[in-house]
Amino acid sequence: MTNTSIESAIRELETYNKQGESYTDATGRYGWRNPIRADTGDLLRILTIAANPLRVLEIGTGHGLSTLYLASGLANHETCHIDTIEFDSGVAESTQQRMDDCKVPVRVHTGDALDVIQTLNGHYDLIFFDAQKNKYQEHLKALINRQLAGPGSIILADNVTDRREECQPFLDWFVAEGINHFILPTECGLLVARL
Ligand SMILES: C[S@@+](CC[C@H](N)C(=O)[O-])C[C@H]1O[C@@H](n2cnc3c(N)ncnc32)[C@H](O)[C@@H]1O
Repeated sequence: MTNTSIESAIRELETYNKQGESYTDATGRYGWRNPIRADTGDLLRILTIAANPLRVLEIGTGHGLSTLYLASGLANHETCHIDTIEFDSGVAESTQQRMDDCKVPVRVHTGDALDVIQTLNGHYDLIFFDAQKNKYQEHLKALINRQLAGPGSIILADNVTDRREECQPFLDWFVAEGINHFILPTECGLLVARL
């Protein structure tokens, strides 16, 4: 593993259009495959260093910019691991190749998040949400039901400010459960919480 290759892959992905790529899901619903904004990457890296997770789960891989920032915060690439979920098989395949080229301990799982969640096992120490915003709450509940998320899991979620309406049920869940959560004032709003 070389930090040089991670950093150069990050630099390349930072040049991708941040507002230009769209996708449709199985129901024809329209979404954006926008990578995290410039102010969010280093924050993900710092939060990962601080959380010191062994197992990380990301929902919404895209081309892997956030995945690489998360990977760059892992303490040890032999013992730590990232699982990440992407439903577009072409994107998942090319991103897995990028991760392999960077020699980061990342497995890209292809499929709808709700289906892939049913195949995963074990507790995740840090979970980053960045797929469909109106599904954040459903994804979190599925993770809790399967005990993939539980006491001690750090939860990060992008776009809770610029896509607030779609994220509202997810935000309301933290209030209803009495779980402290903070929204960092990044361009899109990053939720940080600990279950
Ligand atoms: C906002 S982009 C992710 C950007 C990525 N985190 C980054 O910073 O480079 C969201 C991605 O999630 C995928 N996606 C959306 N809904 C999904 C779902 N229900 N299950 C799996 N992947 C999904 C989309 O195809 C898209 O690539």
